[in-house]
Amino acid sequence: MEQFKYKNGVLHCEGVNVGDIAREAGTPVYVYSKATLLAKYKAVADAFSGIDTTVCFSVKSCSSLGVLNVLRGAGCSFDVVSGGELFRVVKAGGDPARVVYAGVGKTDAEIKYALEQGIMMFNVESEAELSNINRIAGKMGKVAPVALRLNPDVDPKTHRHTTTGKLENKFGLDFGMAGHIVDDLPRYPNVVLRGLHLHIGSPVNATAPYGEAIDKALAFLKAHPKADATVEYLNTGGGFGLLYNEEDVPAFSAYANEIVPRVKKAGKKLILEPGRSIVGNAAVMLARVQYRKFNGVKTFVIVDAGMNDLIRPAFYDSYHRVWPTSDKDTGKDTTTALIQTDVVGPICESSDCFAKDRPLPNVDRGDVLAFFSAGAYGYTMSSTYNSRPRVAEVLVDGEKWRVIRKRETWDDLVAHETI
Ligand SMILES: Cc1ncc(COP(=O)(O)O)c(C=O)c1O
Repeated sequence: MEQFKYKNGVLHCEGVNVGDIAREAGTPVYVYSKATLLAKYKAVADAFSGIDTTVCFSVKSCSSLGVLNVLRGAGCSFDVVSGGELFRVVKAGGDPARVVYAGVGKTDAEIKYALEQGIMMFNVESEAELSNINRIAGKMGKVAPVALRLNPDVDPKTHRHTTTGKLENKFGLDFGMAGHIVDDLPRYPNVVLRGLHLHIGSPVNATAPYGEAIDKALAFLKAHPKADATVEYLNTGGGFGLLYNEEDVPAFSAYANEIVPRVKKAGKKLILEPGRSIVGNAAVMLARVQYRKFNGVKTFVIVDAGMNDLIRPAFYDSYHRVWPTSDKDTGKDTTTALIQTDVVGPICESSDCFAKDRPLPNVDRGDVLAFFSAGAYGYTMSSTYNSRPRVAEVLVDGEKWRVIRKRETWDDLVAHETI
């Protein structure tokens, strides 16, 4: 799996034995591969090189400065959904002029900060938000570049929590409202319409919904020639699939085949906002087995990571491959005698379960397990629930590795509280 490979029965990230990281940095820990991040970014950029494309890494999928810094160094732009994410991009050395900013509830302070930083454009999600951006930009003596986020009402056939482009979802503008806005643009003298934005969901393991959404956006532009004249960019958002288990994930080139010809024919430039497909398989989470128990019916392996550290299985029923990092350390035969096991965390919730009835070797206290494909919506969705300090993050580069985020302490847990 990418740069995470077993060499003589021991899991390596690039040239580093991950067991060494677990011993020295402790567990739980997220381990990122720099080579994978760079390869994935390049693969997206190459697949879409047939058209002027700005690849904006979706910061929400993984906002760690160390990761943003690697992607920035490779020439990547960024997509943010809050003032805090924009702050992170700036801290990582990113250029705000290459940042697009979505989100249904941008506050006045966030809009002001984004205008001060000079972002590339806001992805506007309602008429009220457009009025507010227009008001704030006017007060600041600026003109705000915007894209209208359209809700194309297409079904990306993904999890109900991650579908965003249907009318039942809170995101974007329906075509009727978007039409009113573009017919009435002189009412907003402090904004300039530069794009249309169309994020439909995540992950979208099919290419056709992108084509369908673009076709609807282009029909909209055809019906509104004044908007067509100023719209330079079509932004198709993120959502490219990721191989977690055995799903059929289209290649980047297949998404490109669906998207590029349409955008090219319309004479527009393209913006993409991939997150998961770049960082998802660029990290594993390592956790150590605390206890093992059998209740007469089931075998449980209890690890030192909980749903607060990796919430995707509890939140989205997501699958993460789980396997011991070392056959040698455990001395167990991992090819035979697999046992149906529930891998669970220590949190006081029944949903704190990473894997149900998973065939696993007879792992026991002290063994380290790798949770694969943990890079996207892993650390970034973690919390301190059950007063558990957030875990450490490590970046591997060839034979070397370093901590890019220190493990929090109990003191950190209460640092901002008063009695
Ligand atoms: C507006 C927007 N852009 C991009 C993304 C990134 O999606 P993904 O990580 O699936 O590529 C998301 C995530 O849901 C999003 O809401």
